[in-house]
Amino acid sequence: MTTDQTQYLSMAARPAGLDGPIYLDHNATTPVDPRVLEAMLPYLRTHFGNPSSDHPFASSPRAAVAQARVQVGALIGARAEEITFMGSGSEADATAIRGVVTAVLTTGVQRPHLITQATEHPAVLAACQYAERFHGAEVTVLAVGRDGLLDPDVLASAIRPTTVLVSVMHANNETGVIQPIRDLAAIAHAHGALFHTDAAQSVGKIPVDVTDLGVDLLTLVGHKMYAPKGIAALFIRAGTAVAPLIGGGGQEHGRRAGTENVPYLVALGAAAAIAASELAMGASDRLSDLRDGLEQQLVAHLPGRVHLNGNRNHRLPQTLNVSIDGVAGHAILAACVEVAASTGSACHAGIHSASPVLLAMGLPPERGISALRLTLGRWNTREDIVRAAGALARAVRAASPIPPMPPTG
Ligand SMILES: Cc1ncc(COP(=O)(O)O)c(C=O)c1O
Repeated sequence: MTTDQTQYLSMAARPAGLDGPIYLDHNATTPVDPRVLEAMLPYLRTHFGNPSSDHPFASSPRAAVAQARVQVGALIGARAEEITFMGSGSEADATAIRGVVTAVLTTGVQRPHLITQATEHPAVLAACQYAERFHGAEVTVLAVGRDGLLDPDVLASAIRPTTVLVSVMHANNETGVIQPIRDLAAIAHAHGALFHTDAAQSVGKIPVDVTDLGVDLLTLVGHKMYAPKGIAALFIRAGTAVAPLIGGGGQEHGRRAGTENVPYLVALGAAAAIAASELAMGASDRLSDLRDGLEQQLVAHLPGRVHLNGNRNHRLPQTLNVSIDGVAGHAILAACVEVAASTGSACHAGIHSASPVLLAMGLPPERGISALRLTLGRWNTREDIVRAAGALARAVRAASPIPPMPPTG
């Protein structure tokens, strides 16, 4: 099937919510695919039963939960029983990290050592800090290179006999940089440590297989793959000891108590099945073509001023993070009503500072302030890209230059 046919298939089910500015912020969240919505609605309208009940109202929800678990597992090459549904990516990250540390502490280990890296999502960094503060863990945060990649040798030299877990994200949410997970996981295992990867941004966008990657724990998130917000899953390889964060009714094989959110679980299962078929039809190539076209057009409109952030060759297919010399990202977007996207900066009380991810890569603050994160999705077209590049370039010309930055140090 050609990429044009893939585009046609996706265009057949465009969510109504996409009317408005050109949406280039899919790493923040994706619209719900109308096919996903259709799949979940019967479990809101009709099949309301509690899957744990012992009467006929339970049977349809119970079967739907079982099917969703199979669908999510199939997308990442896992067995259904290795999938634990969670309420968010943040919860899945916290369960992986704090759950492993708690389980290890029950075996008598005193000061478990965790390793992570500097460009992780705050959910991972916060879980490590929690383990440090409340579980007596020691935490090492590794530096990345200027291209955002973690060098496996850096991990190898940081690992200790007491290291129990290494957590390194698969793909970065700001730059799309894809870490060498297979090599990193092999190093962790050679030293007896478990390996967790936060794959919130990669699952559904590129092929992800837990056996190929060699990971013990993997986080995936519904609202990055055309399911609603508030649903996620943690892959826990069979035999991996992870203490639950929430106890109670014994749902999710005792790994996460709470009555199942059946419609959302169904949604995640449907989103996983659709992602698998779109990937098989060449969705990644279609998006990387569009992404590269967007970059080329920005370069053509603004010669010499556009700089890519993150490794060019190890990137998500639909993520473009560029800095445009001399203009703040937030000023560009404020002047560009035609495009909805993100910047490479954070704003607190009206003051913009470069994002911790770009700073951790060693980029100067000016480069972070002038960054734009343009992330494409299932319904973006070539026409969107042409219009967005033109509108962004006009906004760059209209925006005021960045005032001089205070010296760092
Ligand atoms: C890489 C990564 N991990 C974790 C999360 C957190 O997911 P959630 O918003 O579902 O808690 C996100 C969401 O932005 C993410 O991009």
